[in-house]
Amino acid sequence: MTGKMQAAIIDGRAVSASVRERIKAEVSGMETKPGLAVIIVGNDPASAVYVRNKKRGCEEVGFNSWVYELPENTTEDELLSLIDRLNVEKDVHGILVQLPLPRHIDESHITERIVPEKDVDAFHSINVGKILKGEAALLPCTPAGIMELLRYYDIKISGARCVVVGRSNIVGKPMAILLLAADGTVTVCHSKTKELASVTKEADILVSAVGKAKFITADMVKPGAVIIDVGMNRDENGKLCGDVDFGSVSAIASYITPVPGGVGPMTISMLLQNTLTAAKNIIQTN
Ligand code: GUN
Repeated sequence: MTGKMQAAIIDGRAVSASVRERIKAEVSGMETKPGLAVIIVGNDPASAVYVRNKKRGCEEVGFNSWVYELPENTTEDELLSLIDRLNVEKDVHGILVQLPLPRHIDESHITERIVPEKDVDAFHSINVGKILKGEAALLPCTPAGIMELLRYYDIKISGARCVVVGRSNIVGKPMAILLLAADGTVTVCHSKTKELASVTKEADILVSAVGKAKFITADMVKPGAVIIDVGMNRDENGKLCGDVDFGSVSAIASYITPVPGGVGPMTISMLLQNTLTAAKNIIQTN
């Protein structure tokens, strides 16, 4: 083969904009506007940026939104009381507690307290169980965003060898389940995986959610593979980058998500989608 192959860029900003247009159009015809409550505890600067973007996303599509900024020394009981209030608040259809929480608050106590119907992160055990059974109404935002990207670019999952690197509850595990539900043949790799490169090299679709800059190099990738990069890291110059060595890998892949501008923009769009879904379900039930 002569000539260098260059992967097509998966444009998360464009797909995200089209998702938001669709949501905005639907909301404009709704009598009751979907409402999202976002809670942030403490002063983590990255979390503050995420929360601001979530609020902006809500405004853009015509949702109501409320941001609760609680001090670092908020007790677990105080946070649980706020969740209890929002659980029964009529105008609130989605509740999101920004993670990470301060160490003195048990994350699991918090995520289990949100009523499953308003759990737009899909972190509650009931929702996790429904995802496993293929019965979920609310899907975890980052994996759902990746599925939307694959759909948009008409990338076939059925029968494909899918390798997920990373096994977090937020990304790796639910990602594997969604790919399996779409008839992919799925392998999950992690820090204890032996001969990682030999496994990733089998992948037709490779999802990396590791959190290490330039972790996935060209020698770990099958020529023509689809590369999904969930990483959000800083390189040696402090520049934002993913898990994938974009320069070398994009020369052999068929499709690749850039960082920034790939998976990231999809996550908030999927949060908006979940809030719309939750609102419709709650309005219908009442
Ligand atoms: N912090 C980082 N990612 C997430 C997420 O998806 N949801 C919440 N609630 N917090 C996060």
